[in-house]
Amino acid sequence: MSEVNIYEGAVDKGLEGVVACTTAVSFIVGNTLIYRGYTIEDLAAKSTFEEVTFLLWNDRLPSKSELENFKNDLNKNMTLDPAYVQVLKTLPTNVHPMAWLRTAVSLLSHWDGDANDNSHDANLRKAIRLTAKMGSIVTAFEAIRNKREVLNAKPGQSMAWNFMYMLKGTEPDAEFVKLFDTCLILHADHELNCSAFATRVTTSSLSDLHSAVVSAIGALKGPLHGGANEQVMVMLAKIGTIEKAQQFVKDALSAKEKVMGIGHRVYKDGDPRAAILRKFSEQLTKKIGKPELYTMSALIDDTMQKEKGLMPNVDFYSATVYHGMGIPTDIFTPIFAVSRIAGWIAHAMEQYEKNRIYRPRGQWIGKANLTWKPAEQR
Ligand code: COA
Repeated sequence: MSEVNIYEGAVDKGLEGVVACTTAVSFIVGNTLIYRGYTIEDLAAKSTFEEVTFLLWNDRLPSKSELENFKNDLNKNMTLDPAYVQVLKTLPTNVHPMAWLRTAVSLLSHWDGDANDNSHDANLRKAIRLTAKMGSIVTAFEAIRNKREVLNAKPGQSMAWNFMYMLKGTEPDAEFVKLFDTCLILHADHELNCSAFATRVTTSSLSDLHSAVVSAIGALKGPLHGGANEQVMVMLAKIGTIEKAQQFVKDALSAKEKVMGIGHRVYKDGDPRAAILRKFSEQLTKKIGKPELYTMSALIDDTMQKEKGLMPNVDFYSATVYHGMGIPTDIFTPIFAVSRIAGWIAHAMEQYEKNRIYRPRGQWIGKANLTWKPAEQR
C-alpha cells in the first residue's frame, strides 16, 4: 500500500454545530428551551414531572384520566423485586453512586421479561419500569450504604414525594417536594446533549433500551456533563467563604481551569433553567440558615460573566438547591439521571422509529506504510 486514503470531510471537534438527526422532543432557540412545543418556564410553573414525562413520550399532554393512569402505573412500578434488592446488597458501596447506578440499571434488565424485545409495546412497558425504578434504585443505594431498610414507594404519592421519602426514610416537607418536582421537570430533557446522544448512538445499532440507558448513565457521569452539579458543591466547600469567591474565579481563569456549572455549548445568553434555579437556591439556602452559599454562588456567577462572558448552566444553582434539601452531594448526579431518563427514553423511541445507524468518520492523522516485522527484529 503506497497511499492512505484520507477522508477529507471537515472535522467538527466535539461535533459543534453538527446537526446529527431530526427531533421533535426538545429544542433550544436562543435562551429558550422547549419540550414538545411548551416552554420550560411554562412547564416548570404549571406541570408535574409525571405529566412532562407523558408529554415527552407521547408528543402531547395527557387528559386527566390518562395522567391518573400514567401516575398509577409509574407508582406501581417503583417497587423493586426483593430478589433484585438482595443482589444489589452484595455490591460494594464504596464507589461513586453513578458507577453503582450504572451497574444496578444493567442488572435490572435481568429481571425484565421484555429485556430483548425491541417492539414499540415492549419498549413502552420497559420505559415505565425503568423510569419508575430509577429513583428507587438511587434511594436503595443510599439506604444500603447507610445500613437502613430499603423502603418501597407509598401509593398515591408522586415520584418526587416518594424519592424524598425513600431517600431519607421520613415523610418529606411539602415545599421541598414541590421544588424537587420542578427540578425534575427542568432536568427532564435537553435536546442532543451528550447523554441523549449516547442513548441515540446505542439505540441506533438496534440494541435494547436498558443498554441505551446504561450508555446514557455513563455519559452523564462525567464532570463536563451531569457530574458538574456535584463538583459545584465541592468547589463551594473548597472556596469556603464569600470573601474568597471572586479571587477563586480569577485564579481558576488564569490557571485555565474550568469553573464548574458555568458555560454551555449552545446557550450563549444564559440557560433559562439556571434563572429558575437561582431563585430556588436563594430561597432554600436562606431556609436552612446558609445564605452564604447563595451569596458565594451569585458572586462566582457575576465574576464569570464579567471576566469571561460565561453564564451558569443548569448544574450551577441546582447544587445549592439540592444541598438546601439536605441531599448528600454525591447523590446530585444520580438525581439528574432520575429525571433525565424521561428524555433519554423519548430520544430512544424517536431513534427506533426513524433509525439509521450512527457511523461517522475520523480524519486520519496516524502513520502509514509501515511493514510488520517479527518481535525479535523490532
Ligand atoms: N470555566 C472556565 N472557562 C470556561 C468554562 C468554565 N466553566 N467553560 C468554558 N470555558 C472557556 C474555555 O476555557 C474556552 O476558553 P478559551 O476560548 O479561552 O480557550 C471557552 O470558554 C470555550 O469553552 P469550551 O470548553 O471549548 O466549550 P465547550 O462548548 O466545548 O464546552 C462545557 C461546554 C459546558 C463542557 C464547558 O463550558 C465546561 O466545561 N463547563 C464546566 C462544566 C459544566 O458545568 N458542565 C455542565 C454542562 S451542562
